[in-house]
Amino acid sequence: MEILFFIGLASAAVTVTKTSQGPTGYEVTISYQNASVDSVIISSLPHLTDQYSTSFWSYANFDLAEYKPGDFQRDPQVGSYYPMEQTSPGEFTWTRPFPSGTYQYSFLLNCANASLCNTTTGQEITDPTNPPFETVAGSELVSSFQVPYDPEFQYYPDLPLNQDYALPYGNNASKGRIEIGTYPSPGSISPSDGIHDYVVYLPAGYDDDASNSSTVYPLLYLSHGGNGAAADWQNQGYISNLLDRLIGEGHLEPTVVVMPTWYGILPNTTNPQALEQRNYPTPPVIAELYSRYLFPYIEDNYRVSNESSRRAFAGLSQGAFVTYEFYTAYTSYFGYFGFLSGAAATNSENEAPPLSEYVNASMAAANPDLLDRGIFVSYGQYDVLYTDARRMQEALDALNVTYVSRFIPWGYHFWNTWQDAFWHFGRAALWQPLPFTRYTGYGQ
Ligand SMILES: *[C@@H]1O[C@H](CO)[C@@H](O)[C@H](O)[C@H]1NC(C)=O
Ligand SMILES: *[C@@H]1O[C@H](CO)[C@@H](O)[C@H](O)[C@H]1NC(C)=O
Ligand SMILES: *[C@@H]1O[C@H](CO)[C@@H](O)[C@H](O)[C@H]1NC(C)=O
Ligand SMILES: *[C@@H]1O[C@H](CO)[C@@H](O)[C@H](O)[C@H]1NC(C)=O
Ligand SMILES: *[C@@H]1O[C@H](CO)[C@@H](O)[C@H](O)[C@H]1NC(C)=O
Ligand SMILES: *[C@@H]1O[C@H](CO)[C@@H](O)[C@H](O)[C@H]1NC(C)=O
Ligand SMILES: *[C@@H]1O[C@H](CO)[C@@H](O)[C@H](O)[C@H]1NC(C)=O
Ligand SMILES: *[C@@H]1O[C@H](CO)[C@@H](O)[C@H](O)[C@H]1NC(C)=O
Repeated sequence: MEILFFIGLASAAVTVTKTSQGPTGYEVTISYQNASVDSVIISSLPHLTDQYSTSFWSYANFDLAEYKPGDFQRDPQVGSYYPMEQTSPGEFTWTRPFPSGTYQYSFLLNCANASLCNTTTGQEITDPTNPPFETVAGSELVSSFQVPYDPEFQYYPDLPLNQDYALPYGNNASKGRIEIGTYPSPGSISPSDGIHDYVVYLPAGYDDDASNSSTVYPLLYLSHGGNGAAADWQNQGYISNLLDRLIGEGHLEPTVVVMPTWYGILPNTTNPQALEQRNYPTPPVIAELYSRYLFPYIEDNYRVSNESSRRAFAGLSQGAFVTYEFYTAYTSYFGYFGFLSGAAATNSENEAPPLSEYVNASMAAANPDLLDRGIFVSYGQYDVLYTDARRMQEALDALNVTYVSRFIPWGYHFWNTWQDAFWHFGRAALWQPLPFTRYTGYGQ
């Protein structure tokens, strides 16, 4: 047995061990110590399902211990609670086999009924020794860890379930840097009045040639989704690992990636409860605020290209709706657009609008740039925004626009789907020569 990761010392730990034994080849032990606690439930971890028991709305609720090849993660939001075993007073432990992937978890303390415990009551905490990456304290409510793939136990012929792209890549010299930044944005209430925040990934080498003002990098804006914030892609999606690997393996040119946030970008005077936690400005409002305040700030403060062909916007779910807004209303400012699990379904039910409401020939006649951008569309088979993404493809097909797409056969509306989508966006679409052809993204 080889211990691969050991996070934490004093009061909790996550240990990922290569067992080279079934069912998955890997085992994870989570431990927690706290003398003032009688019981601990692990929350936010997924149960597993398989493709035979899964549809949009239903799935098998397998405990991780029941893993079989072909099983994949499914909806951690719904009833995924694992009570920890108390080994002595205040000492808790829990062990399960885990397949490949990035996992989120939190602890519910002294909680008799998991469905009634939450962060507001103070019973749900993140792992004190493996805190989330966050820009605004309390905006990320889960800790994360990554488990590697073992083809001997996890290979399943029809499903690409290897999620090792999210493992740390290379050495210090090949790692980019993740940084939190702020910029003036009138109306913002987070992190403070008139100031807004973002996360930026600066690729390896950015600092080395900092004195060389003639080196400019292509620039990707990458959005979170509904209920999310700037730190999501790093905390839950391990985006710096994906980018280090895409760049280090030569799939993607070194790129500056800015992860903006609409969390607290505007006071929401009609809904004080939403104001307290999250705000829901509409895509046109978000796009206007980003383009007025964020984009000029980024161009002035980072060595990024000022050419639209070297600029991209991508986002997941509600962030894909924002991407659609930029695609249709700010088309010429960007060369590339990434629609990750969504496009134009901005109504509250996430229902896809009729095809006639997507990009169409009269819009293209008025705005021909719609036809020659680098477009990437991805979605999971069990994704709530499957129809929206498919309809976007239908609309592009009707315009004879070539695009790159990624269909994720095990994917539902969650982080491992978006990691997989981003991995393929970076390999096959971003900064690839335009127009895309059937060979785009091959041979690398
Ligand atoms: C220990 O448990 C108490 C609740 O009894 C909780 O408030 C506190 O955050 C826990 N401490 C740590 C370090 O997890
Ligand atoms: C936990 O609370 C939920 C919601 O009130 C309730 O439906 C459920 O029966 C409770 N479970 C137990 C074991 O008490
Ligand atoms: C948290 O739980 C308490 C007690 O069950 C409940 O009153 C409150 O509405 C919950 N808050 C949220 C945000 O779910
Ligand atoms: C790599 O980076 C980490 C974190 O910045 C640092 O602690 C470590 O010393 C570095 N290792 C080398 C070999 O430079
Ligand atoms: C500075 O940037 C230019 C253009 O990218 C490059 O050709 C040159 O090698 C760089 N020089 C140094 C010292 O990094
Ligand atoms: C874009 O940047 C180049 C230098 O990299 C500069 O010469 C040019 O004027 C800039 N264009 C605009 C429109 O700002
Ligand atoms: C094209 O889309 C626009 C914007 O949604 C809509 O107003 C228009 O009616 C559509 N045109 C056709 C021919 O469907
Ligand atoms: C798309 O291509 C087909 C076949 O070449 C052609 O018949 C059709 O008119 C084209 N549609 C548009 C909107 O350009």
